[in-house]
Amino acid sequence: MAFVAAIVVIVAAIVGFNVYKNFQNNVSESNSSSRSVKTKVKKNGKVTTTGKNNKVLVVYFSRKKAVYGGDLKRGNTARVADFIQEKTKGDTYEIIPKKAYPNDYDETTKVAQREQDQNARPAIKNALPDVKKYKTIFIGGPIWWGEYPMIVRTFIDNVNLSGKTVIPFTTAAGSGLGNTEETLRKAYPKATIRTGFTTEGNNVKDNPSSVKREVNKWLNGLGY
Ligand SMILES: Cc1cc2nc3c(=O)[nH]c(=O)nc-3n(C[C@H](O)[C@H](O)[C@H](O)COP(=O)(O)O)c2cc1C
Repeated sequence: MAFVAAIVVIVAAIVGFNVYKNFQNNVSESNSSSRSVKTKVKKNGKVTTTGKNNKVLVVYFSRKKAVYGGDLKRGNTARVADFIQEKTKGDTYEIIPKKAYPNDYDETTKVAQREQDQNARPAIKNALPDVKKYKTIFIGGPIWWGEYPMIVRTFIDNVNLSGKTVIPFTTAAGSGLGNTEETLRKAYPKATIRTGFTTEGNNVKDNPSSVKREVNKWLNGLGY
């Protein structure tokens, strides 16, 4: 009798343990799946996590001032960054200057020229992103005097992207990608640099849906 009772207790313990394990698995699965669809915005580092494709990070710098004066709701390059994010479902990181650039276009061109002449690395206000989990990093900026604004170079100097795929994108008045691809190749000799995207800033402002189509076409070509 005691022997039968012992067997019953052992069987009950095994069944109970399995039920508990299944319950635990379900809980952790539902936690991770809910994590994978949540949208999270980290205010400090300005990293926006959609969580749907945590292998892509879209980095950008952009002003909200139009060349011929006036405010843009969103800067030209920022809008292209939005299109890339929408299509790749990646995360985004905005480079925010510690010292804001002047509102005035001409003033900004002077500051930018000085920064370039001095090969300056203006400080970034927000925390740099942890890029460990990303495989592909898009890096976007307006073209300032033929190249990335020096504040983008601050980012590049301080974030090691060796072994990653790095892809430039720009908006400009006419300089295209400028020397951004070359800058990335020099900065990250151990990264794979892929074909970038550029469009005129005014196109983004005046005809965003056509730019979005161009961005999607380019991304299709890259396999997205
Ligand atoms: C300081 C400064 C320098 C610029 N230099 C160039 C240039 O060399 N070539 C060019 O095509 N556009 C140049 N532009 C125009 C910007 O690249 C263009 O307006 C861009 O779309 C602005 O992007 P954003 O709205 O994201 O800041 C310059 C603009 C500024 C403010």
